[in-house]
Amino acid sequence: MSKYTLNINGQAKSVELVPDTPLLWALRDSLNLVGTKYGCGVGQCGACTVHIDGVATRSCIIPVSSVGQQKITTIEGLDPQASHPLQTAWQELDVPQCGYCQSGQIMTAAALLKEHPQPSDAEIDGAMGGNLCRCATYLRIRAGIHRAAEIASQQKAKK
Ligand code: FES
Ligand code: FES
Repeated sequence: MSKYTLNINGQAKSVELVPDTPLLWALRDSLNLVGTKYGCGVGQCGACTVHIDGVATRSCIIPVSSVGQQKITTIEGLDPQASHPLQTAWQELDVPQCGYCQSGQIMTAAALLKEHPQPSDAEIDGAMGGNLCRCATYLRIRAGIHRAAEIASQQKAKK
């Protein structure tokens, strides 16, 4: 076992784990940040997506020993009031069905909106294609991202 101090949602958090433990288990089992989900465990579904230094990353295939002091953001830290434009849009449009995949969907979408504040359908499909949803909420996810882009631009105009 080794001790790691991780920078998670703006706070330093210590965990003691074997070096090849996936970051996902550090989040879920050691730190009780259970909004990040386990789907496939092999980087294929996107349920475990978090941001590492702002980049959407699959936490199930990242060893905790490789994270260092990079900034990790989970769904719990995406917005202090849980009112990120995506979260607001998701509620407005009732995007989730069972909900299991949705934190990963939102984290991937949040990284997309940072790069492309007004994404086209093609950009959305390109960014979101690796995030699977067994309930097939894909059309609502796409609509939710467009709505979030609209909310974000309205918020920017008010500032
Ligand atoms: S659980 Fe990580 S990609 Fe599926
Ligand atoms: S909402 Fe059920 S898996 Fe996506």
